Amino acid sequence: MNPEFIGQLPKAMSSGAPAYDDLYYFIYWFSVVFTVAITAVSAYFIVRYRRKPGDQPEKTLVDMTKLEIFWTVVPILIVPFLFHIGFKDFVTNAVVADGAIEIRVRAKQWLWDFEYPNGMRENNVIKFPIDTPIKMVMSSDDVIHSFYIPEFRLKKDVVPGLYSTLTFTPTVLGEAHVFCAEFCGTSHSGMLATVNIVSRAEYDAYIKEGPKKPDDLSEAQWGEKLFTQNGCSVCHSRDGVTKSQCPNLKGIWHRDELLTTNATVHVDENYVQESIRKPQAKIVMGYTNLLMPTFALTDRQIDAIIAYFKTLQ
Ligand code: CUA
Repeated sequence: MNPEFIGQLPKAMSSGAPAYDDLYYFIYWFSVVFTVAITAVSAYFIVRYRRKPGDQPEKTLVDMTKLEIFWTVVPILIVPFLFHIGFKDFVTNAVVADGAIEIRVRAKQWLWDFEYPNGMRENNVIKFPIDTPIKMVMSSDDVIHSFYIPEFRLKKDVVPGLYSTLTFTPTVLGEAHVFCAEFCGTSHSGMLATVNIVSRAEYDAYIKEGPKKPDDLSEAQWGEKLFTQNGCSVCHSRDGVTKSQCPNLKGIWHRDELLTTNATVHVDENYVQESIRKPQAKIVMGYTNLLMPTFALTDRQIDAIIAYFKTLQ
C-alpha cells in the first residue's frame, strides 16, 4: 500500500518507518472494515426485525454458548497478535546499530541545541548522513519537552535530570522536521527544527568546515534566515508595532536602549554579539520576565545577523 497515495502520513524517511506504517494501516483498515460491517448489519437488523403491530415477544431457548465462546476468543487472540507485531517493531527500532553517530541534544525553552561528535553545535537545524545509524542522546535544561520527527515515525520525551535516547537510520535524502510534542510554555509551538538528510561526503565536509553562507543569499539574507531558524522570531517582533515578549527589533541598529540597571547602551556590533553569547549580561528595561537562551552561533553567523539588523530600519 502506498502511504503517499492515501495521504494520511508524511513521507517515510527512516529505516523503521515502513514497519510502523504497515502496522498503522493494518489497524486502520481492520477497524474501518469491521466498523462498516457491524454498523451495516445492525442497521439491517433494526429495520428487518423491528416490532410490528400485533408482534408478541418469543422466549429464546436456543443454547448460544458456542457462539459466545467464538466471539469472545477471536478478539482476545487479535490483541496479543497486535501487541506482538507492535512490540517486535519497537524492539527492532530501539536497538542502536554498531557505528552509530552520537548526537547530543539539549532541549530548552524554546530551542533544540544539537552537538555533533566533534563538538560543533547548532540550534534548530541538524544534518544527518543518509543510510547511517544515528543515536540521539537527549536531555532538557528546564521542563519536559518531546522530540518528535514525524517523517521518522519517532518521538521521545526529553526530561530534565534524565538522559533519553532515540536511534534511527535515515533512508531518504531531503528535509524532515522536528516538533516539540509536549506543551512546554508560551512558545512551545515555535520549538521547531529542520532535519537535512545529506550524502555522507556532504555531512563529513559540513562538520569539518561548519555552517557556511549559502551562495544564493546575501549576508543580510543569511542573517535573516538564521534569525528565523534559531527561533528568535518566535519572541522578537520586527515590525515596530507588535508588542512582543522580547524587545522589538525594528530600528534596533544604533538605538540607545535603557537597561534594567538604569544605564543606557548603544546598540552596535559589540552589544549584539554580547546579547547572543551572554543574553543575561545587559537586559533591556521591562524585559526581565523572559530569559533569552544562549545560542550556539559561530562568529560568521553573528556577523550575518548583525548585517541583517542593520537592514531593520
Ligand atoms: Cu518544548 Cu514544547
